[in-house]
Amino acid sequence: MIEMRKGEAGRAGNLYYLSFHLPIMEKIVRFGVSIEPELLERFDALIHAEGYGNRSEAIRDLIRKRLVEAETEEGRGTVAATITFLYDHHSSDLVNSLISIQHEAPVDIKASTHVHLTHDLCMEVISCIGEAREARRLGDRIKSLRGVLFAETVYTTPEVFGKEPHKH
Ligand code: NI
Repeated sequence: MIEMRKGEAGRAGNLYYLSFHLPIMEKIVRFGVSIEPELLERFDALIHAEGYGNRSEAIRDLIRKRLVEAETEEGRGTVAATITFLYDHHSSDLVNSLISIQHEAPVDIKASTHVHLTHDLCMEVISCIGEAREARRLGDRIKSLRGVLFAETVYTTPEVFGKEPHKH
């Protein structure tokens, strides 16, 4: 099955043409889905608003997202995760606790970004690679600290996209 994407339109003399870059390595399978018309209408409106050019890419993204969720729910597999959190840096001992927790965590913290949001509030984003359960544990520990006002962990799983994470 050939999938058309990244189309280019042009004109050569009196001929108008459309050309497409075809994925060479990927094998694509087509399948049919039975769905209520109202549900499809809502889905189409949503993905159109999100900027998708076609349903296929939107459905592939949904499937990948669900596969990442399933793996991280089970706490297994290697994930690349970001933990975004907001905290009041005046809270006593909070900054020290945050640093100790990160040093002790059995995940590979690749980067940490600190933004001074207001006089009191800081936002930090940690990017890490490690076992799903350890990334979740790190996010949970940060979230439960007194003075942390918001924390959310977002996971992605390189394996779901058919790629091995870099070891370095
Ligand atoms: Ni700050």
